[in-house]
Amino acid sequence: MHTITLINGDGIGPEISQSVMDIIKASGLEINWDIQTAGADVIEKEGKPLPDRVLASIKKNKVALKAPVTTPIGKGFRSVNVQLRKDLNLYANLRPCKNLPGIVTRFDNVDLVVVRENTEDLYAGVEEQIDENTAHSIKIITRQASERICRFAFDYAVKNNRKEVCAVSKANIMKLSDGLFLDAYRTVAKDYPQIKQREILVDNLCMQLVQDPTRFDVLVLPNLYGDIVSDLTAGFIGGLGVAQGANIGLDCAVFEPVHGSAPDIKGQNKANPTALLLSAIEMLRYIGENQHAQKIEKALFKTLSNGDKTQDIGGNLTTTEFTQKVISNL
Ligand code: NAI
Repeated sequence: MHTITLINGDGIGPEISQSVMDIIKASGLEINWDIQTAGADVIEKEGKPLPDRVLASIKKNKVALKAPVTTPIGKGFRSVNVQLRKDLNLYANLRPCKNLPGIVTRFDNVDLVVVRENTEDLYAGVEEQIDENTAHSIKIITRQASERICRFAFDYAVKNNRKEVCAVSKANIMKLSDGLFLDAYRTVAKDYPQIKQREILVDNLCMQLVQDPTRFDVLVLPNLYGDIVSDLTAGFIGGLGVAQGANIGLDCAVFEPVHGSAPDIKGQNKANPTALLLSAIEMLRYIGENQHAQKIEKALFKTLSNGDKTQDIGGNLTTTEFTQKVISNL
């Protein structure tokens, strides 16, 4: 039996985690979930939002499924998500974005993948209050991390029969930092002559994406642009409720949706578990449980095709009703 760490998060996290555990169990796959709490609720008891036991559990089990954890805005503790990615060296954030059956959106045939660098850039958290009216944030870009993420993107393209890897930057303005990222991309690209290369500035990318997202295949981006662009691309396929993701490192992987803890719908039985479920399906493939992954994906797609959906994507089902529909389609 697989033992997998589950961070059930806060906000809508516990509701969607329960849904996904129920669906996986109903598919006939027994998983020993090592449930680990993190975030604001554990600070009082354990003194920090990301206790060492969480990291130890992931290091031991090598694989985790993670529901969202709230990060206080403008003050309070540092993001548990950012810290987790840094501490476990989960350097690649993979966010595939493909149309789903039964969800009508503005564009058909969207099938792109955002590969986001996950450990540095402005997310390194190097900030300084110069005086009352001035604050500095340092953008850190290294050749090592840039080459590593570009190589990940090209390897992903080769393995998944993708045609193109496009580097996204703002190297016309940030000539040193984004310039270094682009230089790393060009160096790595030389090893992949079979994959088409392309470079684009992030502002132009956003304009072109909203005009026609089918123009793009694999995108590789520094951390901040990757974060923003992947929320934008989530909009092409039905929104954050259906956008999956994974954080991959050398030793372990943490699968988590793109969305946050959605405090506005917390505890209302409204949350869409699809994004976490799709992340879990990829996790099952990652651990070699392809048949179960396939079975659950089929049941999910059938449910959505039947028009059985949660409110965020135009349906009227609650989280628990939707979960039951998927289970009955297994
Ligand atoms: P959010 O993604 O939580 O919510 C944005 C909007 O999308 C809200 O209207 C929400 O109701 C809706 N939404 C998101 N997921 C949904 C789902 N599964 N089903 C139905 N509707 C859904 O973004 P927001 O409000 O900016 O962030 C809330 C908190 O989450 C913040 O503290 C933020 O730092 C944290 N966050 C955590 C992440 C993580 O744990 N990986 C990622 C992004 C944000």
